[in-house]
Amino acid sequence: MSGKNGNVAIIGAQWGDEGKGKVVDYLTQRADIVVRFQGGSNAGHTLVVDGKKYVLHLIPSGIIHPGKVSCIGNGVVLDPIKLLAEIDGLRAAGITVDSKNLKISPFANLVLQYHKDVDVARENNLGDKKIGTTGRGIGPAYEDRVARCGIRVVDLYGDKTRLKELISSNLMKNVGNVDDIDEYMETLQNVADSLRDYVEDVSLLLYNANKEGKTILFEGAQGTLLDVDFGTYPFVTSSSTIAGSAAIGSGVGPSVIGHILGIMKAYVTRVGSGPFPTEAFDSYGDHMSSVGVEFGATTGRKRRCGWFDAVLGRYAVRVNGITSISLMKMDVLCGLDKIKICTGYRLSDGTVVTEVPFQGLYDVDPVYEEMPGWNSIKGCETFDTLPINAQNYIRRLEELLETPVSIMSVGPGREETVVFEQFL
Ligand code: GDP
Ligand code: IMO
Ligand code: MG
Repeated sequence: MSGKNGNVAIIGAQWGDEGKGKVVDYLTQRADIVVRFQGGSNAGHTLVVDGKKYVLHLIPSGIIHPGKVSCIGNGVVLDPIKLLAEIDGLRAAGITVDSKNLKISPFANLVLQYHKDVDVARENNLGDKKIGTTGRGIGPAYEDRVARCGIRVVDLYGDKTRLKELISSNLMKNVGNVDDIDEYMETLQNVADSLRDYVEDVSLLLYNANKEGKTILFEGAQGTLLDVDFGTYPFVTSSSTIAGSAAIGSGVGPSVIGHILGIMKAYVTRVGSGPFPTEAFDSYGDHMSSVGVEFGATTGRKRRCGWFDAVLGRYAVRVNGITSISLMKMDVLCGLDKIKICTGYRLSDGTVVTEVPFQGLYDVDPVYEEMPGWNSIKGCETFDTLPINAQNYIRRLEELLETPVSIMSVGPGREETVVFEQFL
């Protein structure tokens, strides 16, 4: 694919942390614009370029490439303090961030301190029923957005009296007092001054860029099983994480998105609470955790690990319309004597299903298929040079998911990427 149809949505197809940041960074080499369309600083996207590690939370993972434009779309909930810190951090690492390569939608809703306070307080109140949020104020900020009382970037540049009224009513709603109103006004004035030059109509920018045949990447955050509708509700995030959200959260029509690349690890991880049918509590799970260095990029929490779940994989293909898969962390499975794939769920009445039951994933028992493992895939640059057992694993996943694997990742570095099928 090329030109207009070369636009790609990069979507997490599991529970987040699949390696979206790495893939976006890799594909940005051949794209022009990257736009984040949902989520906020709950995301932690890691890229490793020339041995140097960058962790991005709000700024698209294309920012490392000189000359490319990174956009924060209207669907993102933007913590301005975190964003300014992220900009400073990137500059300190020698990356250019200025009003030419970073654009912020005026329609993005702000995450303010009271959202974070409410998020943390609610989690504490839930005790052992907690969701395990990142504490970044994401849920409360999206609630204000749909309640039509949120503060948006554009409000920073309007009438000050109206802004004060807005903050006042939001403080009352969220924390029950307006004690800190002057502090908030001062903070927001500083934020307004610091962000002014980045604010641009992202929807219009993308529309024109697409017309000119420029290539756009839509960078997803979180993953399909954390989607507010299609995820493991209520143990989900508060935004739509699936491909359809790429259009809504950036202000383009769905026809602008050409290719939908589903990012999947060769196994599965999850941070936070909620069901995880294939979670491995044995030495195989320990292997994935230690060799895969499975610790959260945002909160540092240990990620839960388990076998590839093809039932959930097929579900992700369906709800996103995934056209091909980027299979990550194949190197982590090296050295295991056997690899398991979940191909169905046995329900409490003994029947086996191969689709996700809409009642949820609580009473399902995974049905596994076993395949022999492989030792090393170091230096393999094509499909054919992979050990035959690794080839068979990929072929079996393609069969179960009815979708081709177009990219394989064999390490965190940009160069540790094998492309089976070019689509840009
Ligand atoms: P994201 O949130 O989807 O961008 O993923 P994260 O960055 O949170 O987590 C993925 C982690 O795996 C990061 O530490 C990456 O550097 C690392 N990573 C990505 N691809 C590979 C790979 O193929 N092999 C290994 N060993 N690590 C990888
Ligand atoms: P990236 O973009 C993995 C999880 C949290 C929690 C749930 C709700 O790096 O893949 P929230 O703070 O969003 O209200 O938390 O969602 N979660 C993530 N898990 N990767 C992420 O982002 C996540 N962002 C949120 O752990 O279970
Ligand atoms: Mg992450």
